[in-house]
Amino acid sequence: MPGRLQNKAALITGAGSGIGLESSILFAAEGANVLLVDINLEGAERGATLIKKRYPDINAVAIRADVGKEEDVKNAVDTAVREFGRLDVMVSTLTYYHAPGIMHPADDNALNTDEKIWDLTMTVNLKGVWWGCKYAILAMRQNPTDETKGLHAGGSIINTASFVALMGAATPQLAYTASKGGVLAMTRELAMVHAREGIRVNSLCPGPLKTPLLMDFLDTPEKRDRRMIHLPMGRFGEAVELAKGALFLASNDSSYMTGTDFKVDGGLSSAYVTAIGEPLLPPPASLI
Ligand SMILES: NC(=O)c1ccc[n+]([C@@H]2O[C@H](COP(=O)([O-])OP(=O)(O)OC[C@H]3O[C@@H](n4cnc5c(N)ncnc54)[C@H](O)[C@@H]3O)[C@@H](O)[C@H]2O)c1
Repeated sequence: MPGRLQNKAALITGAGSGIGLESSILFAAEGANVLLVDINLEGAERGATLIKKRYPDINAVAIRADVGKEEDVKNAVDTAVREFGRLDVMVSTLTYYHAPGIMHPADDNALNTDEKIWDLTMTVNLKGVWWGCKYAILAMRQNPTDETKGLHAGGSIINTASFVALMGAATPQLAYTASKGGVLAMTRELAMVHAREGIRVNSLCPGPLKTPLLMDFLDTPEKRDRRMIHLPMGRFGEAVELAKGALFLASNDSSYMTGTDFKVDGGLSSAYVTAIGEPLLPPPASLI
C-alpha cells in the first residue's frame, strides 16, 4: 500500500532533534523524500543516515541552516527543489526558545526580559517561520503536476506553535510566548491568502513534551509536579505523538483543513480540574 506521503518531498527545519527528527523519520516511512534542516548538522545527519538505512528507496538529505538568516532559509528550499524536483510539505519545528544548545533563562516577565532575548527569540521563532512560509509558497506554486503519482501544484505548510500561545502561565517566558502567538496569527492569515492555490497552512500546537530540553529545564520534582497536576492524562507528551499530528496535516487526509490551531496537547487546553491516578496506557515508542 502506498504511504500517505508517497512520491512527495518534505522539508523539515529543526530536524536534528525532538519533533523535527521524529517527523522526518515518520514522513520517510510514509514515502516522502526528506530534507532535514538544522543548525546542528550532526543531528540532522544522524536522522538522514537512519532514514537511508531503514528506507533505502527514500532520498534523505541533511543540511545546516540557521533559520534566523533569510539566505539560509532560501537556500534550504532551493536545495529541496534541486534534490527532489519539488516541495510538497514544509514543516517548521525549530527551536524551543533557545539558541542552539543555549537556553534563555533570561526570557522572563515584562519587567525582566532583556531586549536582546526578545529580538533573538522573535528572529528565530517568528521571522524564521515567516521566511520558511515565503520560500515554501514560491516553490509550491511551481510544483509540477503528475496525476499518475498524485502530485500537483500547491502543498501543506505546518508551523509549530505551542500551547503557551493559547494559555497563560505564571512561569513566564514572555518573548517565547509572544513569538508563538505570532506564529498562530501569521499562519491563519497565510491560510486565507493561499487557500485557492492548493496551499494549506496550519499550526501545530504541542503541549509540554518529554523532550530532553524541557526535562532538563524542569530539573526538580517540584518543577515537574507543578506542571503535572495540569496534565489531564497524567504524563508529558512524546515528540513522536506530535510527528503523527504533523503527518496528518501534511497528508491529503487533512485536505479540508487550513488555518487551524491543531492541538496535540493531551487535553491540557480543555482542562480545569484534572483526574487523579496513574495513566492506564503507556506512551508510544519513539521512532529513533
Ligand atoms: N518540547 C516541548 O515541550 C514543546 C512544547 C510546545 C511547543 N514546542 C515547540 O515544538 C518545536 C520543537 O520542539 P522540540 O522539543 O522538538 O525541540 P528540540 O530542542 O528537541 O529541537 C529543536 C531543533 O531546532 C534546532 N534549532 C535551534 N535553533 C535553530 C536555528 N536557528 N536554525 C535551525 N535550527 C535550529 C535545534 O538544533 C534542534 O535540533 C518548537 O517550535 C517548540 O517551540 C515544544
